Amino acid sequence: MQRVFSGIQPTGNIHIGNYLGAIRNWVELQHKYESLFCVVDYHAITVEYQPEQLHKRVLELAATLIAAGIDPDKTTLFVQSSVPEHAELTWLLTCITSIGALERMTQFKEKAERQKSGVFAGLMNYPILMASDILIYKAEFVPVGDDQIQHLELTREIARRFNTMFKETFPEPQPILTKAARIMALNDPTSKMSKSIEGSYIAMDDDDDTIRKKIRRAVTDPGPQGGEMGPGVKNLFTLLEAFAEPDLVEKFRAEYANQSLRYADLKQELGEAIVTALAPIRERTFELLAKPDQLIEILDGGAKHARRLAQETVAEVREAMGFKMPVA
Ligand code: AMP
Ligand code: TRP
Repeated sequence: MQRVFSGIQPTGNIHIGNYLGAIRNWVELQHKYESLFCVVDYHAITVEYQPEQLHKRVLELAATLIAAGIDPDKTTLFVQSSVPEHAELTWLLTCITSIGALERMTQFKEKAERQKSGVFAGLMNYPILMASDILIYKAEFVPVGDDQIQHLELTREIARRFNTMFKETFPEPQPILTKAARIMALNDPTSKMSKSIEGSYIAMDDDDDTIRKKIRRAVTDPGPQGGEMGPGVKNLFTLLEAFAEPDLVEKFRAEYANQSLRYADLKQELGEAIVTALAPIRERTFELLAKPDQLIEILDGGAKHARRLAQETVAEVREAMGFKMPVA
């Protein structure tokens, strides 16, 4: 079986954009590939963060992933910092990565601008850590959103450079682009749903009434029905397609086409569809979080398996780069 790796950052407020854009895709992939999925906590410290919140966020994200259908018996689910070899490989690969390439990364430029108290080297080197995550498992495929394509291209470049400078070691990983549409902000459907915009998202742990209320308040565009949809209406239809039965989607599409759609009805049904989908995931997440020791044990099991694979690769890399001393 071919191997897939992906990572998601524990930066809080996991929302339905993350669920539809990443998590649900992973759940499908685990049946077709040998899968490793990782809560990338080393990435989460590249921007300002609260140390006392970090562990909680790691566990919340891991619990949400399991509750959403990632099966730890089928998939290697683990936390990045449990496999310290990711950091070791990052250093080794840092020494063959050009500063210019890192400075050209769109996400680096955007995030650097937002760091008020100075930009640390970790933010610039973030894509090398991401490359190490992938290459340490010699993953062939990486499910990502389009915002990560540039980082994946850099990963391929690093792999190529290593292979030519030292020894043929790494496959060049290919992206698996998420087919789900980008989910837009509920309160401003021209920008994407994001954890950093209050009011834009439905969080995975929002209760039923909060979900209903947020959908009721979602911005629609008053323009004429029948023709091209405005961004707000389009976004509601995207969500309906993701959460509701196809015949319900058809019914509302037909109503839109003949200009008889009542947005209140659409929102009512959409709210219920999201509640139906999210309630069991939320319940399961809370159950898992109520027993943190068990959750940590599951993640530790994943990490032990991942670490064996990672250690093999790092040993190979050290050897290829000329390190001969035993590891103490
Ligand atoms: P982020 O929270 O931005 O780090 O994203 C984590 C994952 O969720 C990435 O794979 C993103 O592509 C995906 N994601 C985040 N926001 C959205 C959105 N509004 N629509 C679809 N996917 C998203
Ligand atoms: N940078 C990715 C993001 O912000 C997260 C990530 C870290 C990742 N390491 C990875 C994704 C390896 C895929 C593969 O979404």
